[in-house]
Amino acid sequence: MALTAIGLLCFAALLSFPALGERDHSGEQGPVLVKVDVTNKLTNTIVSYSATVPKGMPMFGVLNKLQDTKSFNFTYSISKSYGIYLESVNGLAGSNANHTYWELLSKKGKSIRSLDVGIGCYQPKSNEIFIMNFTRWD
Ligand SMILES: *[C@@H]1O[C@H](CO)[C@@H](O)[C@H](O)[C@H]1NC(C)=O
Ligand SMILES: *[C@@H]1O[C@H](CO)[C@@H](O)[C@H](O)[C@H]1NC(C)=O
Ligand SMILES: *[C@@H]1O[C@H](CO)[C@@H](O)[C@H](O)[C@H]1NC(C)=O
Repeated sequence: MALTAIGLLCFAALLSFPALGERDHSGEQGPVLVKVDVTNKLTNTIVSYSATVPKGMPMFGVLNKLQDTKSFNFTYSISKSYGIYLESVNGLAGSNANHTYWELLSKKGKSIRSLDVGIGCYQPKSNEIFIMNFTRWD
């Protein structure tokens, strides 16, 4: 259950405080080049995408922009309590029966960390790679 929560958090906060989406303390200016890797160790695949978006756009907007290019697709559900939850990427959905889910990570240089907020809230920076990793929990 803790795993699912990772995908959910924060969209509600954006809705209540629209200005939150604009706030940024990094000092970055102008459009942001967002790099996105879709990885799947179970099938040994990695597909890379990039999009240029206005600074402060949450990942949800970036993914919609990628989807407009037709080379990428995703689906999500909306929890009334927690906001947007990522369900499938490029036609592949996580499954409770198989213990699979889309893990969200950010890579900066050599350091990789799990996101503590979901796609509805996370605002990517231009010097990082946003990773969606299809994986399994024990
Ligand atoms: C999503 O992407 C997958 C993999 O490229 C493709 O097989 C599938 O048809 C796409 N689904 C939609 C609704 O475009
Ligand atoms: C579970 O994994 C099997 C084998 O990879 C796959 O064929 C099946 O579609 C998966 N089930 C779900 C609900 O994703
Ligand atoms: C993706 O998940 C696999 C396990 O399926 C894990 O070994 C790998 O380290 C993860 N990738 C990243 C970038 O963390």
